[in-house]
Amino acid sequence: MVDPVAFAEEQRRLASVWTFLGMTSEVEKDGDWFRASIATRSVFVQRFGAQLRGFENVCAHRFMPLRNAERGNGPIVCGFHHWTYDGQGCAVGIPHCRELYGRLPQQLGARLAPIEIELCGRMIFGRFPHSRASESLEDFLGSGFAILAAGSQAQGRTHHLKIPMHANWRLGAHISLDEYHTPAVHPRTFGKQGYVRRDDIAYFRFGLHTAYVNSTRLENIEQLARRCRKGTFYPTCYTIVQFVPNVLMAFLRTDFDHFHCIVLLYEAVRHDLTNVHAWLHPAPLPQGRSRLRAVADTVRSSIVRRYVAMVLREDNLVCERLQAVAGQVGGPPLLGRLEERIGWFEESYRALMAAHERD
Ligand SMILES: [Fe+2]
Repeated sequence: MVDPVAFAEEQRRLASVWTFLGMTSEVEKDGDWFRASIATRSVFVQRFGAQLRGFENVCAHRFMPLRNAERGNGPIVCGFHHWTYDGQGCAVGIPHCRELYGRLPQQLGARLAPIEIELCGRMIFGRFPHSRASESLEDFLGSGFAILAAGSQAQGRTHHLKIPMHANWRLGAHISLDEYHTPAVHPRTFGKQGYVRRDDIAYFRFGLHTAYVNSTRLENIEQLARRCRKGTFYPTCYTIVQFVPNVLMAFLRTDFDHFHCIVLLYEAVRHDLTNVHAWLHPAPLPQGRSRLRAVADTVRSSIVRRYVAMVLREDNLVCERLQAVAGQVGGPPLLGRLEERIGWFEESYRALMAAHERD
């Protein structure tokens, strides 16, 4: 967390791990694109007709970033020398190519580095291709695939927040896995009711991932996944499903039977800098319940947005303080039963690091 060299090595290993990039609602129209990152490497996702494609955001000519805004629409044209790429990432337009390179663009064979893209509901994941990275997104997410697919179905507009945090991304992941800090850190919101009783909640572990359900009625995460696959899922209690390395989905009650779905991403930038992203939309409702209260939904959305931004700022401040002394820390933390998932996360993290050691 304090060593830039170790961080670079960690990120190199994570480049071929499925990473959440953004929502399909950001690339609805032909030519729409957005920028994202996989293990600190800049990438962009673009729609070409029915196809979504992703490329490393670096021109094959002199390595200029092709996309320099958050999102936009239009052909891939480099701002440095006007090299133009097609939907396969091939340089098809090169000014004065014959004169300067002695051949046609097709003969030059310059192309963008492609990334692999897979969808889970409305969520777009990507990874850099690697000979050993053959696991499908569905296999990687396990039972969580069905939950993300169902939860990501927006029942209204999706809002996006991005907050920089001057701390390592893993500190962000840790705090999102911790039910013990809420009364101290979020006294006006999550922690208002005091400490959660461990016996009133359930933690689950599936594959490398974990979940928290604020109920004891669920026996395993597969029960929830089955309802998602059948199309009969709607949230009934506060639930968080967390996926290594850095994304989670939470269902937050907004009033009696209304929930909001929040997708949270800890995008690593440097060893001590992370962009915290949140995507928010109203969650699916029980069968037969319609969203007649669209106005109420709009109001709820803006309240949830402010609430989430406040909670994230409180969490980020703690992470920034932890980062400031991270270099002084010697031994392991004392994790209690409301921090059990942090230990699980660290085990999964070590497993990921070991699996990609020789990549
Ligand atoms: Fe928190």
